[in-house]
Amino acid sequence: MMLWGGRFEGEVDGLIRRFNDSIRFDRRMYAADVAGSVAYAGALARAGLISGEERDRLVAGLERVRDEFDAGTFEVVTSDEDIHTAVERRLGELLGPVAGKLHTGRSRNDQVAADLRLYLLVEMDALREGLIGLQAAIVAQAEAHMDVIMPGYTHLQPAQPVLFSHWLMAYFWKFQRDRERLADVARRTRICPLGAGALAGNPFDVDREALAADLGFDAVTENSVDAVSDRDYVVEFLGWAALVQVHLSGLAEDLVIWASRAFGFVELAEAYTTGSSLMPQKKNPDALELMRGKSGRVIGHLTGLLTMLKGLPSSYNKDLQEDKEALFDVVDTLKIELPVTAGVIRTLAVNGDRMRAALDDALLATDLADYLVRRGVPFRESHHLVGRAVRRAEALGASLQELSLDVYRAIHPAFDEDVYQVFDFERSVQARTTTGGTAPSAVREQIRRAKKKMGNEEVMRR
Ligand code: ARG
Repeated sequence: MMLWGGRFEGEVDGLIRRFNDSIRFDRRMYAADVAGSVAYAGALARAGLISGEERDRLVAGLERVRDEFDAGTFEVVTSDEDIHTAVERRLGELLGPVAGKLHTGRSRNDQVAADLRLYLLVEMDALREGLIGLQAAIVAQAEAHMDVIMPGYTHLQPAQPVLFSHWLMAYFWKFQRDRERLADVARRTRICPLGAGALAGNPFDVDREALAADLGFDAVTENSVDAVSDRDYVVEFLGWAALVQVHLSGLAEDLVIWASRAFGFVELAEAYTTGSSLMPQKKNPDALELMRGKSGRVIGHLTGLLTMLKGLPSSYNKDLQEDKEALFDVVDTLKIELPVTAGVIRTLAVNGDRMRAALDDALLATDLADYLVRRGVPFRESHHLVGRAVRRAEALGASLQELSLDVYRAIHPAFDEDVYQVFDFERSVQARTTTGGTAPSAVREQIRRAKKKMGNEEVMRR
């Protein structure tokens, strides 16, 4: 018999049942469902709807159900439409009629909304830890290679020399903002919808505030119609995840390029690569390619959820059941990606010699223009003059450093013998000492601030 069987005569068709049921994917919320019910039993007792003794029996029964799930012995039966009906059905088998009192004033509409929030809050903690692990790997690699200079790129064209650590730390800050954003989404997720009922609220005067506090929520929802339909926090979470995914994908793409034979700036540990079934020489960066590739599904889930929500009439509609698989898939994807990325970074071999060999004078063209600026030439003019020097060097098949002083003087009289001091990559990097620049002193300061952020865990949690 179905939970809502009273009004119905025939059995539900098997095909429809398969279409309708969510137990095969929402069973993963069992711990949240049980926790919600334990707290709700307490609320019913406080409201005088059940006795203290009945509450204790309900709680003990619920804990047994949870133990069965934990142990993998819980048996799903055909009538278990979703996790909520499955837990209640089993509770009835264990306790008899008293189990039927638990759902007083409650609906699966507020129940599922509460479960999903509780479930997500736990996963958010795990994801935050994943981000911290990745940030720690980034900081460790940055500190281990403070003396390595590489060509920095814009448009993937060689631009200016930067420290390898500086490039790597760029990702620290992206993931730092991701961590801050996650805390912000968690703040709006930590609101309790229980007591909203199906849509109209609770007629038995349960103490919603106490119920919320028992479950670790910060507050209660302000409107019961909103409470059963609100999936904003899922949208926000998927939006958050899509952005994390974009950051991971960018990092992966940088490393794919640098690990390529043509660059050879880094080498991936064997554990994160695979060979080709055809070409014996290949060492493919599969882990990184997957990181890039999974952006499609994560961004897709965000789009899918927004599309599902758009235009729903207010309060609960069964469409909302479609929120879960998207959310679960994104949680699973990120929960494996973050530690994999941390592993890739931690085990990365950095080839400082190859990076140095890729440095050429042209990367110092900006420094050459700055040289003229320091001698009173307006930057727009000096930019133009150095452009001429670049062209001249190209015509002669020479590097900027190989142009004679006569050539430089012919371009502008402000050029002097000390112009050749410009052609020094260390010097170029060292000059960028302002906060956030690539000078070793600035990068050391950056890392110091980064570590402070990591030490600031308590603040981040809330
Ligand atoms: N399995 C449902 C979901 O995921 C639970 C809520 C069902 N509510 C209802 N009135 N049928 O949304």
